[in-house]
Amino acid sequence: MPKHIAIIMDGNRRWARQKGLDVRLGHKEGAKTLEKIVRYANKIGLGYITVYAFSTENWKRTTEEVGAIMLLLQNYLEDYSKRADTENIKVNVIGDRSALSDKMQKSMKRCMERTKNNTGVTFNIAINYGGRDEIVKAVRKIAQEVKEEKLAVEEITEETISNSLYTAGQPDPDLLIRTSGELRTSNFLPWQIVYSEFVFIEKNWPDFEEKDLDEAIEIYQKRNRKFGGK
Ligand code: FPP
Repeated sequence: MPKHIAIIMDGNRRWARQKGLDVRLGHKEGAKTLEKIVRYANKIGLGYITVYAFSTENWKRTTEEVGAIMLLLQNYLEDYSKRADTENIKVNVIGDRSALSDKMQKSMKRCMERTKNNTGVTFNIAINYGGRDEIVKAVRKIAQEVKEEKLAVEEITEETISNSLYTAGQPDPDLLIRTSGELRTSNFLPWQIVYSEFVFIEKNWPDFEEKDLDEAIEIYQKRNRKFGGK
């Protein structure tokens, strides 16, 4: 079994457009799919699931669309804070939270606080996340420590960098899934996915089902992971 699965939930707008619906309804359906899949990930005993909910580039979309995605996130966090004890999921937001509204930041904090002792799947939600931005922030943090003479340049290792990322302390994803047939990683977890197996699925994210996750895990299990060895 993989310990950590990362998902690029792509194709919400295409799903909506193909049905002649407003794109915001695509995101709404995508959020429902996400809840279902996270619950399933918890049920099958997965350790970590990390999803790309909003990238640093997504601000370029219309105000209406950005607002709709933010509202879905806000509602999820609020709702989940209330029922944190009923499912054993640990919610963790990754990304640059400083650019988000105070209300959103409070909801994030509350949700993480309420679920921090849960022992089931760790659900990382990437919001205002950019992989290169994450690395820049890590480099700044490490440089600051060097400047303050808390760390020597020679002591900087891969581990130093891993431990300075949002995913510090977590294993790297074993498997990366992207829906909607696009074959890119789009600035998602560039440091963490260097040895991940990639599985690309043709379906748009709102159509993703539990059995698609099972299938992706089966494909992963058939692959021969070499980590650069033979
Ligand atoms: C990608 O499809 C999807 C997004 C940019 C937004 C994903 C957000 C959600 C599923 C809502 C998150 C909610 C919770 C509860 C965490 P796209 O819009 O790029 O679609 P396209 O490729 O068809 O244009």
